[in-house]
Amino acid sequence: MSRIVYVNGEYLPEEEAKISIFDRGFLMADGVYEVTSVLDGKLVDFEGHIARLARSLHELEMASPATTEELLEIHRELVRRNRIDEGMVYLQITRGNPGDRDFVYPDPHNVPSTIVLFTQSKPGLADSPLAKTGMKVITIPDIRWGRRDIKTIQLLYPSMGKMMARHKGADDAWMVEDGAVTEGTSNNAYIVVGQTIITRELSSDILHGITRAAVLRFAAEAQMEVVERPFTVEEAKAADEAFVTSATTFVMPVVEIDGTQIGDGAPGPVSTRLREIYIEESRIDAI
Ligand code: PDD
Repeated sequence: MSRIVYVNGEYLPEEEAKISIFDRGFLMADGVYEVTSVLDGKLVDFEGHIARLARSLHELEMASPATTEELLEIHRELVRRNRIDEGMVYLQITRGNPGDRDFVYPDPHNVPSTIVLFTQSKPGLADSPLAKTGMKVITIPDIRWGRRDIKTIQLLYPSMGKMMARHKGADDAWMVEDGAVTEGTSNNAYIVVGQTIITRELSSDILHGITRAAVLRFAAEAQMEVVERPFTVEEAKAADEAFVTSATTFVMPVVEIDGTQIGDGAPGPVSTRLREIYIEESRIDAI
């Protein structure tokens, strides 16, 4: 059975879904996206993702083609039709098809935005084998543009970063700017020193992770100390633990940075506990 996707108001088998070659998402990466994870067939942190989507759209002067209620309905319908138990829903909105290539934004009254959603089934998302061994990262320069707080579909450098990691036998890359870690290619980065969790503060230098917000809230509720400040690669290599967060990895321990083992080389107690809490609470709060 082929996957059912959503394109501009229609639910279609994926083979029948079509977008114009003039779509600005295709020609100019002029679009934004969200990835919402699914646990037990329910959406995790849906409201957070939709709030960030609204912010991304606003920052790019793009209109939303659907209300929050409509988006919730589409997400749920796709999860239902594709029988997703564990996985994710991908949503993308682009500035649409002006009928030609032009750098200037089209008038949103004449050119509706394009909206596409599809699901990805990922059995074992919660019970991930990688979470048991931890992942290896390399560090690479952060040469992305200056508005990393907007979740745009320009993902070439993050893809290059993942390939650089793969070529070195690692799982992912942490990006570094002015000596400090900004974030992972598709996740937020943290270290743990003693009992203190350290992660870069929010600014336009990083994406404001929805998982990050939840994890920091759960950490505070569990009386863990959290400090939001930049940290260097040297600090990270000397830390007791390191981990990343995202909608697709939840809390994922990092056990090696540029070939240097972190702590004893196994997922540490703070990362492990935070992963458990995050998954437990997400199952309860999912809608
Ligand atoms: N990526 N930083 C970057 C650069 C990201 O691309 C992501 C998410 C995050 C974590 O954000 P959140 O906790 O809201 O997922 C941080 C998604 C999962 C992706 O591109 O697939």
